[in-house]
Amino acid sequence: MAREFSVVGVVGLGTMGSGIAEVLARSGVTVVAVEVDDHAAARGRGHIEHSTARAAAKGKLDEAARTELLARIRYTTTMADLADADLVIEAVPENLELKAEIFRRLDEITRPETVLASNTSSLSVTEIGVHTRRPGKVVGMHFFNPAPVLKLIEVVRTVVTEPDVVTDVVEFGKALGKTPVVIGDRAGFIANALLFGYLNHAVRMYEQRYATREDLDAAMRLGCGYPMGPLALLDLIGLDTAYEILDTMYRQSRDKLHAPAPLLKQMITAGLLGRKSGRGFYSYDAPDSPTVV
Ligand code: 3HC
Repeated sequence: MAREFSVVGVVGLGTMGSGIAEVLARSGVTVVAVEVDDHAAARGRGHIEHSTARAAAKGKLDEAARTELLARIRYTTTMADLADADLVIEAVPENLELKAEIFRRLDEITRPETVLASNTSSLSVTEIGVHTRRPGKVVGMHFFNPAPVLKLIEVVRTVVTEPDVVTDVVEFGKALGKTPVVIGDRAGFIANALLFGYLNHAVRMYEQRYATREDLDAAMRLGCGYPMGPLALLDLIGLDTAYEILDTMYRQSRDKLHAPAPLLKQMITAGLLGRKSGRGFYSYDAPDSPTVV
């Protein structure tokens, strides 16, 4: 019989974790949202309130549904509050040691049958799963930014993930209104493996002054029908996150396509992380409105 995922934990309420918590709560799931401290939890709550307010303003969500959605999310700084979760989705920064430590703790806290998922973008789900006593119940559940809007979930199976765990997570993804695809544990899975070489190439073109950022982005939007140009998309993803993904893929494959463009590192060092810091390739007056400086 298929598992029911009625109580789902989300660990980490950054851009992705807060989006994932919103998606879950919107589908009627009870969410236990864990952050390291009250400040981070309040910031996560703020993301969700802002995102759902925008959805309501655009007529995608009525006020009553918004209130119910928000009430389904319980914020906590205590990992032990995940004891009753049927599924936990980890969405902390792309750092293997950090994720390994979280999975070790989740393994102790949750019931043995609880499925543990990572939203990792590029790390090996196998390497994360071996830090538990239940690697057969560990999968990747990779959402795309903005999670409330984009339909894809990459469900990553390792060589030891139990087939029924994959099936149940796929069905759950569909119940969330998403379209899951299943992929083995390879660097970048499907979408990031294809996307990040292109994004990195765009940074190199910009760095070498072949084109302005506006022309670069306009070329891909208007010439190829992409919803955003590559530099605007990097601002949305976060330059630090993009760098970590590229670096991980580069270290795994040594393919120069993924060797992070030097400009990315310089911008990160200077605090230009994209939308989340107010400035990346573009400047942002408000979190959602790009203003070219
Ligand atoms: N809930 C429900 N619907 C929402 C919502 C929410 N919280 N927030 C926005 N929406 C809806 C809007 O109402 C709108 O619906 P409509 O088209 O029917 O009017 C739609 O979503 C789009 O939202 P906006 O109008 O605010 O914004 P845009 O039309 O300008 O689209 C965008 C913005 C969705 C970001 C679009 O430009 C886009 O898809 N860009 C590409 C993003 C992308 O490629 N992401 C992948 C990054 S890679 C990644 O995530 C992997 C990771 O590992 C890094």
